[in-house]
Amino acid sequence: MIFIPTDHLKAGMALAMDIDIGIGKLPLLTKGQVLTPGFIQRIQDLNITGVYIESSQFEDVVVKETVSRKLKQEALTNIKKIFENYSRKTLVADVSLRTVSELANSLVENILSNEEIVVNLSDLKDHDDYTYSHSLSVAILSIMIGSHLGFGKRLLSDLACSALLHDLGKMRIDIKILNKQDKLTEEEFSAMKKHPVIAYEHLKKSKILPSSVLAGVESHHERFDGSGYPKGLGGDEIPLFARILAVADVYDAITSNRAYRKAWFANEAIEYMMANAEIQFDYDILKAFLKSVAVYPVGTFVKLSNGQTALIVKNQPGNTLRPVIRIIRDDGTCTEDIDLLSNFNYISITITGRCCDSHFFDLGTGSSDTRN
Ligand SMILES: [Fe+2]
Repeated sequence: MIFIPTDHLKAGMALAMDIDIGIGKLPLLTKGQVLTPGFIQRIQDLNITGVYIESSQFEDVVVKETVSRKLKQEALTNIKKIFENYSRKTLVADVSLRTVSELANSLVENILSNEEIVVNLSDLKDHDDYTYSHSLSVAILSIMIGSHLGFGKRLLSDLACSALLHDLGKMRIDIKILNKQDKLTEEEFSAMKKHPVIAYEHLKKSKILPSSVLAGVESHHERFDGSGYPKGLGGDEIPLFARILAVADVYDAITSNRAYRKAWFANEAIEYMMANAEIQFDYDILKAFLKSVAVYPVGTFVKLSNGQTALIVKNQPGNTLRPVIRIIRDDGTCTEDIDLLSNFNYISITITGRCCDSHFFDLGTGSSDTRN
C-alpha cells in the first residue's frame, strides 16, 4: 500500500484501509473500494490529508496498527459514554473512572505487545467525534513517550488514564465556543481556559485517582516557558505527566482534520514541535516523542538529499529519521530495501521532504483518470 495525499487521488485507485468517520458509524468507505470522482470529492470535503491506496507494485509495504481495531472501537465507545454522562451530571461516577483505568491498562498492554512502537499518522485518525478520538490518540502517544522515557507498566497506565481524561472539562464549556471557527474573543478564551481546572476539581472528589493523574489533567496547558495556564508554571514546576500530555495534545491537534482547517503532515507538525523545544515543550520529552512518532509514515514517498525518490518501507523505533526505504528509479523500478540506519553507503544521505511528483503516485495503483 502507498499513502497518497488527497490532492493526488485519481479515479480507479482502490482504498487499502477503511476510512472511519465516527463512533458506532459504518466507515465512510471500506478497504478495497475503488475511488470515483464523487468519492474523491467527499474525501476532499472532509479535509482528509491523504489515504492509503492499494498498489500491486508495493503489496508488501504494510502499515501495522498501533492498537487493534477492536480495542480502538471499544475505547472510543467507552470514552464517549463517560464524557457524555459527565456533561449531564456533576460528578464522574467511580464506576466510570474504573472503566477509564481498565481501558488505560488495556492500551498499555496492547501497545507494549507491539514490537514496532512507532505511530503512523493515519492509523490513529477517525475523521469525526474529535474530542473522543483526540483523547484516545493523546493516550496512545503518551504511552509511547512514557515507554521511551523508561516508565514501567503501572506508571504508563496512570499516564494513559490522565491522557484519557485530560479534556473532560471541555464537556462543561459552551459548545458554541468549542466549535467556533473564528478567533475566540477574550471572554470566550477565558471561559475555554477553565476546562483543565473544572475537570480537576470534579475528578479529585472521587478520591480514587492518584495525584499524578489529577496533576496531568490540571496542568496539560502549562507551557515550559511559563506562558501557559491555569497557573503559569514553568520548566520542572510543571508536573511530569502534564509535560508529556502537552506534547501529545498539541501534536494530535495539529495533525487532525477539523471542519475549519486541514491537518498538518507528520513531518510538518514535528518540525513545529521541535522549533518549540524549551519554549512550549520540555526538550527531554520531545526527544522521547521523536523516537515514538513516524516523521514519514510507512508508504510515504520522500525525496532524498541526493535527488532520488524513495518509499518508506519500515520505521525503526527509537530512530524514526533513519527508516528502511526503497529507492524508486525514474522508470518506476525499485532498488532492494535500504536500511538508512545501518547501510554505510547511505550514511550521508538524508530525507529532505515529501515527494510531490505525481507520476510516482500512480505506481501499481490502476488509476484510470489522469486528472489530479
Ligand atoms: Fe485541553
